[in-house]
Amino acid sequence: MTAAAPAPVDHTRLLEQLADVLGPAGVLTAADDIDPFCTDWRNLYHGRALAVLRPADTDALSAAVRLCVAHGVPMVPQGGNTSMVGGATPDDSGREIVICMSRMNHIRGIDPHEMTMEVEAGVPLKVAQDAARDAGMMLPLSISSEGSAQMGGVLATNAGGNNTVRYGNARELVLGLEAVLPDGEVFHGLRRLRKDNTGYALRQLFVGSEGTLGFITRAIIQLQPAPKEVEVALCAVGDAQGALALFSAFRALDPALIQAFEYMSGTGMALVNELIPGAALPLEQPAPAYVLVELATPRPDANLREFMEGVLADAMENGIVTDAVMAESEGQRTNLWKLREEHAEAQKRAGASVKNDVSVPVSRVPELIARATRACEELIPGIRPAPFGHLGDGNIHFNLVQPTDMSGDAFLARAHDIMDTVADIVRDLDGSFSAEHGVGQLKPYMMAEWRGGAELATMRRIKAALDPLNLMNPGKIFPPATSVPASAPASGAA
Ligand code: MLT
Ligand code: ZN
Repeated sequence: MTAAAPAPVDHTRLLEQLADVLGPAGVLTAADDIDPFCTDWRNLYHGRALAVLRPADTDALSAAVRLCVAHGVPMVPQGGNTSMVGGATPDDSGREIVICMSRMNHIRGIDPHEMTMEVEAGVPLKVAQDAARDAGMMLPLSISSEGSAQMGGVLATNAGGNNTVRYGNARELVLGLEAVLPDGEVFHGLRRLRKDNTGYALRQLFVGSEGTLGFITRAIIQLQPAPKEVEVALCAVGDAQGALALFSAFRALDPALIQAFEYMSGTGMALVNELIPGAALPLEQPAPAYVLVELATPRPDANLREFMEGVLADAMENGIVTDAVMAESEGQRTNLWKLREEHAEAQKRAGASVKNDVSVPVSRVPELIARATRACEELIPGIRPAPFGHLGDGNIHFNLVQPTDMSGDAFLARAHDIMDTVADIVRDLDGSFSAEHGVGQLKPYMMAEWRGGAELATMRRIKAALDPLNLMNPGKIFPPATSVPASAPASGAA
């Protein structure tokens, strides 16, 4: 005997009510309009959605959430759709509604004395950065996807990126926050206070919650003075140990000057050179590994260049750095950064790849890279480890590109073996399986193993208290209650 399929639910009434609240432009239901919202940047997930909502402001979103809750319809918030872990993609049930934040895209003010910016969730990060720069300041958060990524998503995932080494993750930049809660109530926390010890710091609950506890609508961001002197160098090093030694050399002299300290493997750099138009390595010889270091200061008379030249000269004398080039102009700075920023794109073009966004204590980065490289090469001969990332804060993207003599599908069928191999080493080094990309729908199965016991139980209690119907971004972060590891993802890993 076969069980009867559940009768499809008719959502006509809900969609009519949503159109009343959001206006006709605020509710998309045609397949062609919805499709782009149902696939992630990496092409790992292909979901379906009942509709895409485009609220123009917080009140409209609040009303829409109340309606979805009344009809028991799950909601998936989506900003720039740049998640590496499927965090903003609906499942394939066709029951979920995507909430697109793009119309909430105003910068509501910049205060030069407080050095703060008030932004709405749908403002692209790059637009916010540019506005800060035009006001003579800097928004110190920089990620490869900043042209598309939106502030709401950046905060909801506690994005890290290139400047974490100096300014911290998104979490550290948020003074105040507004969010729509799972019952449609609005959390009004748009305060701009450096000191505010009035109970729990609720804003921090939403930062990094990946849209599972509330949808961030507005935020007050702490800005920094605009740099007056900036120096960027690309350095060839023998290995990650050399890169760490160079980091320590800069840090010992003046940690406050290090704006970014990025590591790149020779393999990853070769892919960028080969596959990204306009990218060209400005060194005489390719090297086993590279560092891109950026120093910056708001002081106009700091002689940063002299300082950087001195550290690099010492490092060359000691054999830590074998070759180096310093940017002579803003154009050259952009070109050097391009070699780093295009790593993810080059790896996408190189075929199938498995990503491991991991972190370890900074002193253990060389061991992570050496051990994980060896272990993955033993696991799959011909595999191309191409680790890169934010060495200064211990976050390495231990990405692996398929062997040239293996099909992409055959390689991706081994994704879990690869992830587990890397994860075992990361755990041994007291690291984390998700440094800055989040858990999304790719890695909930790891949560039980890594964050089990009281930690996951506490998270579940918080989730149940705020979202008892589990309607806000379900299927993200949390493994099913009776968790067994999910089967291997269709492709790749982050
Ligand atoms: C980066 O730092 O470029 C991103 O996190 C991308 C990636 O991990 O592939
Ligand atoms: Zn990164």
